[in-house]
Amino acid sequence: MELCIIGSGYVGLVSGACFAEVGHRVICVDNDRRKVDSLQAGKIPIFEPGLEEIVHRNVAARRLRFSDSIEDGVDQSQVVFIAVPTPPQPDGSVDLSFIEKVAREIAKVLKPGEYRVVVDKSTVPVKTGEKVTETIKRYNTGADFDVVSNPEFLREGCAVADLMKPDRIVIGGNSDRALALMKKVYEPFNAPILVTDVNSAELIKHAANSFLALKISYINAVSAICEASGADVEKVADGIGMDKRIGRHFLNASLGYGGSCFPKDIAAFIAISDQIGVPFPLLKEVQRINADQKDRFIKRIREALWVLREKRICVWGLTFKPDTDDVRCSVPIDLVNDLVKEGAIVTAYDPKGMEKARELNLVPGVKLADSALEAVDGAEALILATEWKEFACIDMEEVKRRMHTPLVFDGRNFFDPATMAGFGFTYRAIGRPVLSAKCG
Ligand code: UDX
Repeated sequence: MELCIIGSGYVGLVSGACFAEVGHRVICVDNDRRKVDSLQAGKIPIFEPGLEEIVHRNVAARRLRFSDSIEDGVDQSQVVFIAVPTPPQPDGSVDLSFIEKVAREIAKVLKPGEYRVVVDKSTVPVKTGEKVTETIKRYNTGADFDVVSNPEFLREGCAVADLMKPDRIVIGGNSDRALALMKKVYEPFNAPILVTDVNSAELIKHAANSFLALKISYINAVSAICEASGADVEKVADGIGMDKRIGRHFLNASLGYGGSCFPKDIAAFIAISDQIGVPFPLLKEVQRINADQKDRFIKRIREALWVLREKRICVWGLTFKPDTDDVRCSVPIDLVNDLVKEGAIVTAYDPKGMEKARELNLVPGVKLADSALEAVDGAEALILATEWKEFACIDMEEVKRRMHTPLVFDGRNFFDPATMAGFGFTYRAIGRPVLSAKCG
């Protein structure tokens, strides 16, 4: 099939590449000409495992191309996906101006008698599909089209795998003609398809992300109780996660969730529910627990080091999660800045995130080291902030030798406490008993 994706950001680019990979002919449209040129030349603006190969392969096979013209994309395609940003406004509600603008631009180029399915893939508040439909009709009374909602559930760091093998595909539509075409688009993926009305599909995305964030905040709240009572949150998570109704996924206690989706989507869902007159205070508590988690972690560092001023602290990890170079809304970045504010001398290392952190000036006053080992030189404490696999392969004896004092704070429960104590570290994790050095 011929498909067009408007917006070549995270969702648009990965979706476009994966649609091409299964055999569709795809045009990815973006209004940034420089981005279009560099994508066409094979340069991928984000680090996402497997993406570069798929883009190169499909551009070479002429199944994937890039354009800065919506008219070009809409003319050539049966199905037109909208994947433009829906950023948060200061009050948490969603800024839909990019969606509205694209709807107007699509309206301008729709030709009478040429039916198109317009699919919203961006994360949008419930009832946005109705607004997109009204807008297209207002700007082009003769247009022959249907609007469908098809939320995307990909995770950064495994976006290609998530798209190629999704748990489910949600298609919200109110027209059989549009739904039949959408099923054809997704046929090659062999994944379960849930068909709903447009409003339900839109709501599924915010409800799913908010539930996942709630699950993380739940275990994080439990981790605080574990710390106060001497229990081990990992054991507790295993114990409750073995109940099939609960499941072990997303029960990893941490510094808190971050990234470009959860914080934004929860704030949006709170704003949406307020707007429609059904407030959702539970989600405000989720936000509070999340903020508290980082603050409690810093409090524990302060308790151990007494005063943070002039303390040399090494932080491993800057990205909001591993296998991505994304440093947007990253809890590790906030943590580093809080430490610097208290006068600590921070050296950080991240396998992929340092370039963007530097470019965006996200960690001013922080030394960025060339390697994980270099970063620990002379440190009075080591903080593991992002669980990159690379950190599991580092010679911890060498780390201990290089550190001034062998204190480790693990913000992701990444290391094995007994092994760390065996190396001679005093080891503190999230919601786990403190283990002190067995030797050294
Ligand atoms: C999320 C959703 O998972 C995805 O379906 C949606 O499309 C976009 O938002 P993403 O933000 O890429 O994906 O990453 P995810 O793996 O969900 O992690 C989000 C945050 O939660 C990260 O900061 C991660 O470290 C944190 N997290 C995750 C935990 O703290 N504990 C967990 O158990 C799981």
